[in-house]
Amino acid sequence: MVYRITVVGAGYLGATHAACLAELGFEVLGMDVDATKVAALSEGRLPCYEPGLEPLLRKHIESGRLRFTTSYGEVADFGDVHFLCVGTPQRQDSFAADLSYLDAAVEGLAPHLNRTCLLVGKSTVPVGTADRLASRVVELAPAGELVEVAWNPEFLREGHGVADTLAPDRMVLGIRTERAERVLREIYAAVITAGAPVVVTDFSTAELVKSAANAFLTAKISFINAMAEVCEATGADVTQLAAALAHDPRIGGRFLHAGLGFGGGCLPKDLRAFIARVEELGVDAAVALLQDVDAINTQRRTRMIDLAREQCDKTFTGRRIGVLGAAFKPNSDDIRDSPALHVAAAIQRLGAQVTVYDPKAMDNARAQFPLLSYADSAVEAANGAHLVLHLTEWQEFRDMDPVVLSAVVAQKRMVDGRNALDPAIWRSAGWTYRALGRP
Ligand code: UDX
Repeated sequence: MVYRITVVGAGYLGATHAACLAELGFEVLGMDVDATKVAALSEGRLPCYEPGLEPLLRKHIESGRLRFTTSYGEVADFGDVHFLCVGTPQRQDSFAADLSYLDAAVEGLAPHLNRTCLLVGKSTVPVGTADRLASRVVELAPAGELVEVAWNPEFLREGHGVADTLAPDRMVLGIRTERAERVLREIYAAVITAGAPVVVTDFSTAELVKSAANAFLTAKISFINAMAEVCEATGADVTQLAAALAHDPRIGGRFLHAGLGFGGGCLPKDLRAFIARVEELGVDAAVALLQDVDAINTQRRTRMIDLAREQCDKTFTGRRIGVLGAAFKPNSDDIRDSPALHVAAAIQRLGAQVTVYDPKAMDNARAQFPLLSYADSAVEAANGAHLVLHLTEWQEFRDMDPVVLSAVVAQKRMVDGRNALDPAIWRSAGWTYRALGRP
């Protein structure tokens, strides 16, 4: 059967999923309650920067396979399979996930479901959510038991969304019936044939795979950052340590990059939501481990501020500081929980005059941190600076010639928060080069 597919929630995850399913040959209807977003997407415009996604979006708007709407009724009429891709941010008042958007999507859609269909959750949720929603859907939907729920978590990385969706590391299918498994296998047939391993499991395991995967990645980053502190106390070099560890295939080299730590719209809030959930479940060993991972990550930002102050001869007052990077990672314009902007704003509050430059995230940064100064280039941000901070490792900064910056700064001092610049090149150009975890 050729399924007609809907994707509820047209944010980063939903827009990527919708465009990729159109690319796989399906007719897709994307839905969002935000009419402005729907209008932009319908014209093939993406509200965020994501390499490769906008051309795919435009291709399938033009082919007619992809449309967007704000109507739950239209979604229910159109789709045989409905993917739920709404956001689950951190709550204002606690570490826990805010499920209000997901609940609102189910409450909005289910009353319109009057025939056999499959509702597939992709959002990151606390374990137990799929089970709760499955009961709620049967209560609300006129078609009752004919509406089934499955959980199929998403693992995509910003900047690699299209590739991670079309060629994922693995496909996790949390299902309760053979029918649900069969439908999902048919939808993902091309992806599975291309080699994606499939794990078929229950709801709780599917939900936990996502939480545990993110927790493991953050633990790996915090582990190497803890080692960076040991390196600093001993004069060792954490980049060489990590390179040596990476030769052990049991450890591997990815996510072993020490520096300012992790940020973004996913890892920090997913780690905290997981802490909140395992606390509720009373699993103390897991709570302690995950809390340490979070605390080490937060300390990186404080450590960076301390190192910057030291390089400003112990005071920020009256110092000009050029900040290179605002996005939470390179190749993204996302500034959610960005370590770079966190540090920039803190240093400004402590008395420095901070000027920020980022290749893509300037508009977002300006909107959220209007009190920081902004420049149109790295050279302009460094103009007159007593200290330059490298906080997001864009290729443009890695390729920078220190001689060019030397001509504009007040003092040739660089702190590399991402361990991504070559200390030898900077030092030979007369700069004081400092980094977290290196002599
Ligand atoms: C992450 C997960 O990788 C993805 O599987 C999940 O679905 C969503 O969260 P993303 O937020 O796009 O994806 O970013 P990622 O590339 O994983 O980087 C996360 C943060 O960790 C960045 O701030 C990055 O700078 C930092 N990081 C990453 C390190 O500090 N060191 C590393 O070695 C790797």
